[in-house]
Amino acid sequence: MTKRNVRPVTASDYRRLARRRLPHFLFDYIDGGANDERTMAANQADFDRVCLQQRVLRDVSQVDTGSVMVGHKVSMPLALSPLGLAGMMARRGEVQAVKAAGRAGVPFTLSTVGICSMQEVAAAASGPFWFQLYMMHDRELVAWLLQQAWSSGCETLVFTVDLAVTGARHRDLRNGMLGHTFAAKLARAGQVARRPHWLVDVALRGRPHSFGNLRNELHDATDLTSYKAYMQSEFDTSVTWQDIAWLRNLWAGKLIIKGVMSADDARAAADVGADGLIVSNHGGRQLDGSSSTIRKLPEVVAAVGQRVEVYLDGGVRSGIDVVKAVCLGARGAFIGRPWIWAVAARGESGLVDLLEIFRKEIAVAMALMGVNTIAELNPELVEWR
Ligand code: FNR
Ligand code: LAC
Repeated sequence: MTKRNVRPVTASDYRRLARRRLPHFLFDYIDGGANDERTMAANQADFDRVCLQQRVLRDVSQVDTGSVMVGHKVSMPLALSPLGLAGMMARRGEVQAVKAAGRAGVPFTLSTVGICSMQEVAAAASGPFWFQLYMMHDRELVAWLLQQAWSSGCETLVFTVDLAVTGARHRDLRNGMLGHTFAAKLARAGQVARRPHWLVDVALRGRPHSFGNLRNELHDATDLTSYKAYMQSEFDTSVTWQDIAWLRNLWAGKLIIKGVMSADDARAAADVGADGLIVSNHGGRQLDGSSSTIRKLPEVVAAVGQRVEVYLDGGVRSGIDVVKAVCLGARGAFIGRPWIWAVAARGESGLVDLLEIFRKEIAVAMALMGVNTIAELNPELVEWR
């Protein structure tokens, strides 16, 4: 896609459009991973190592991409991963995304460090909206957030466990995204000045830019330095499975543990009473050098697939990737970066379009693999290259 008005038809088309819209440091905050970004690259590259089995002449006149994710009916086995700061990438970004997700019939997950509050998101939701939580030192705040989520109508909690400390994001450091110095501020102002549409649409018309759910805790998300400082000071690095047991008792809804990359941890999640887990390495933003998620999926499924619903995120860039993950035992896949690229580039309607692209890709792949239902997808329909 080179010309400006060409219709975007893939996630990477939306990525290119988002790059033109966003100030450089914000684009890089999304696009980057930890250290040398090897795990981030592997997440995508390893999907290419999984090959689908073409099957013919099997009557595929009834292809149905519909499925069920933790009790919610969905139009396809896909959900939106929680992304912090989405409201900095598009005007009221989380609201636009939950609207698009509702129109497309897939769940939206609101991040702890989202810009829009649960109440604002709930008011715009027409389908399932899930809330993602990090464990914070202040357990009263955690309990309060759970209560807020429940009373806003959120029935599924996604609890992220792979951010005990923040991975080294070299791009952010280089861009001075996190710097307070005059030079860093000047560099950011320069990047913003080159993105007038973002300046007016998001920076000015998209306010307030505080963290909606941490309103009493932190006031200005525009200052990204405080963002990182907040996470490092408030997130609890001493969390263990015992705290998850505490959380399990407190939360009456469904609980999904996000960030499991080993069979042992998966068993621990099942033992503590989780309803599901997400095989995730945080999109390669945390432990660089860890395996891709698609490689880890089969062993996690073998360990706990009969006891909990296993999901995956990381590197999913098309409906074909979703089909691969489901064949390998995932109940569904989540996308992170692709949804924020679509919302940053074209708002709610961009994301509706992208989700329809995914749905069609899933349907076409299913038809050409000779299956009519998601339940028929199984490991025999893939091979590793
Ligand atoms: C994230 N991720 C994330 N995860 C989480 O549990 N809470 C959060 O607030 C965030 N914030 C966040 C911001 C940005 C900009 C990115 C790119 C990622 C991780 C996210 O939920 C998900 O695991 C990955 O994005 C999945 O990988 P892909 O689809 O981006 O390759
Ligand atoms: C990140 C945090 C917000 O990956 O999870 O940037």
